[in-house]
Amino acid sequence: MFQTAAKTFSASAVAASAYRRVCLVGRRRFCEKTSTKLRVSEALSGVQLGADVKVQGWVRSVRPQKNNIFLHVNDGSSLQSLQIVADTKLNDPLLTFGSAVEVTGVLKKSPHQKQPVELEAERIRVVGECNPVNFPFKIKERHSLEYIRQLPHLRCRTNAFSSLLRIRSEATAAIHSYFKNNGFVQIDTPIITSNDCEGAGELFQIEPSGPAFVDDDNFFSVPAFLTVSGQLHLEVMSGAFSRVYTFGPTFRAENSQSRRHLAEFFMVEAEISFTESLEDLTKVMEDVFRSATQRVLASCAADVDLFHRHVTPGHRDTVEAMLNKSFPVISYTEAIDILHRSSEKFTFPTDWGCDLMTEHEKYLVKHCGNVPVFITDYPYDLKPFYARDNQDRPKHTAAAVDLLVPGVGELCGGSLREERLNLLMARLKRVGLEDTYNWYLDLRRFGSVPHGGFGLGFERYLQCILGVDNIKDVIPFPRFSHSCLL
Ligand code: 4AD
Ligand code: MG
Repeated sequence: MFQTAAKTFSASAVAASAYRRVCLVGRRRFCEKTSTKLRVSEALSGVQLGADVKVQGWVRSVRPQKNNIFLHVNDGSSLQSLQIVADTKLNDPLLTFGSAVEVTGVLKKSPHQKQPVELEAERIRVVGECNPVNFPFKIKERHSLEYIRQLPHLRCRTNAFSSLLRIRSEATAAIHSYFKNNGFVQIDTPIITSNDCEGAGELFQIEPSGPAFVDDDNFFSVPAFLTVSGQLHLEVMSGAFSRVYTFGPTFRAENSQSRRHLAEFFMVEAEISFTESLEDLTKVMEDVFRSATQRVLASCAADVDLFHRHVTPGHRDTVEAMLNKSFPVISYTEAIDILHRSSEKFTFPTDWGCDLMTEHEKYLVKHCGNVPVFITDYPYDLKPFYARDNQDRPKHTAAAVDLLVPGVGELCGGSLREERLNLLMARLKRVGLEDTYNWYLDLRRFGSVPHGGFGLGFERYLQCILGVDNIKDVIPFPRFSHSCLL
């Protein structure tokens, strides 16, 4: 095993022989010993003090001193790295910043306050070398999110991005827990679909590729697209399960380079039957936001702290304020009044009937005390065919609701759905979609009930709680127009 590993190194003969010496010494001394393999987070917990352990990870710092060499090793299990103390005899020219190592030794209580334990190394094996000159991250340097964004294949090796990914993983679990604990059934809605739920035409069409297919071959019998929303499929399921949700990738062919749009993003969508008021929906939106955020703050304290201290200083206060105050609700008509009364010069019009733009959303959030705010009852003509008609006049509105949040703008969009067959059919007829959505009309023909739902943009949620300005910094591999893909 050692020889095979050694063969892969392309360093100088001196380095290679130094490496073999360490391994041989290590093999002779430790063959008979069995060491417990621990993650760095487990080692740091201190429960295995005095035990012979093995830790594997990547070197985050190397500090040779007169008698000892100090390393920090991180394996992604926590923000904190494990300090390794080794006799200088164990030093190896291949032991560099970024290299992958396996360290065996005894866990001891650390004399230093910053770490509870340290690993006194008896053997260090360099598993994968890393040339620190060519490695794009430099020891002890804090790299900006913009810089690491250019290295999507390597940025998970930085503290900031690994923290982000642990937070993202925890937030995903928290959202699933919320729905599970509240009686929702999870549904995997399809990624390939023939419908444009939002009717905005921002679709990616999919076609087969390869020598077996000719250009005009339709793989399916109809044009197929990547989903823009799982809502219509969720509505199918809400007709049997009452409360359903989905959490998956969603695609929009928006030609936008903005800091809050992606071509592929994750959306949390819920659909609730037997609900007749927007308050039922806003309650779920607010609850899911609060419960996920509280769990992330509690379970990923160090990771969140890194963002709130170093990446977006001061953002912790904004998050606390969001959690401590209830979210105000104002109607679209009131929002338009607020915009009219303001002395701010807006670029886009603020007339009743116009869509709220980012500048308006930002102003409204500030006006409401920099906490999330619900805007309800939008002009009927601004909302897709499925939104429920409020049948009010002279201002004609739909029972739709958006949640706007500090720093981001729109986080959630939802509505009551038009459950009345005649009204839905008339609207679909007006836009020539009556035949396309005949199956959807069936849901109103057979046991239709008042229902509603919403979608929450998961990346925008992460931006909101961490204060991250650019959406590309909260997703493992961002896809946006003109981006390179890997
Ligand atoms: O407001 P949207 O378009 O609503 C729907 O798709 C509904 N059918 C959802 C439902 O009721 N089930 O999208 C919902 C949320 C937005 O509020 C926003 O947070 C996010 O999805 N979103 C995007 N996030 C990143 N990049 C994009 N291009 C996004 N487009 C929407
Ligand atoms: Mg929307």
